[in-house]
Amino acid sequence: MEKITLTSTFTVYDSANDLPEPVRLLMQRAVEVRKTAYAPYSKFRVGAALQLDNGEVVIGSNQENAAYPSGLCAERVAVFHAGAAHPGAKILTLAISAAADSKVVDSPIPPCGACRQSLAEYEMKQDVPMEIYFMGETGKVYKSDSLKNLLPLVFDKDYL
Ligand code: THU
Repeated sequence: MEKITLTSTFTVYDSANDLPEPVRLLMQRAVEVRKTAYAPYSKFRVGAALQLDNGEVVIGSNQENAAYPSGLCAERVAVFHAGAAHPGAKILTLAISAAADSKVVDSPIPPCGACRQSLAEYEMKQDVPMEIYFMGETGKVYKSDSLKNLLPLVFDKDYL
């Protein structure tokens, strides 16, 4: 018997103002697109903005449904949109921001497990790590250097 330890490392920025300029602008896009969230049930609005290597920015926001599981998170709306509109492009950076109607979200909001799995597929396909920056409405921003760092022991095609 043995134990293994898997570690994840994040860079922490005190606020979005401290981000490198191109990332600050990408995060601004994520903040703006929160407005397009269709979130009548959770009232939790998430915006995601992807920087592609062809110069394009692709956005997504969460889209809910009265049949709850039929809705989709902002990150998957964005990444599937990128896959459909720019199939050959690589995703270099992902910025995520979340806000709630009922309170100020001050802690960084990471992508959910299902979004991590979806994003992992694209990171492995493009064979270039994607940088992921995530925040709430205010406060600190966490940066992960890759999706893999967010999802250790990922299930991938090699298991099939
Ligand atoms: N949500 C996202 O858009 N991204 C995440 O990673 C976490 C959750 C959305 C889904 C749902 O519309 C609302 O936030 C509350 O869970």
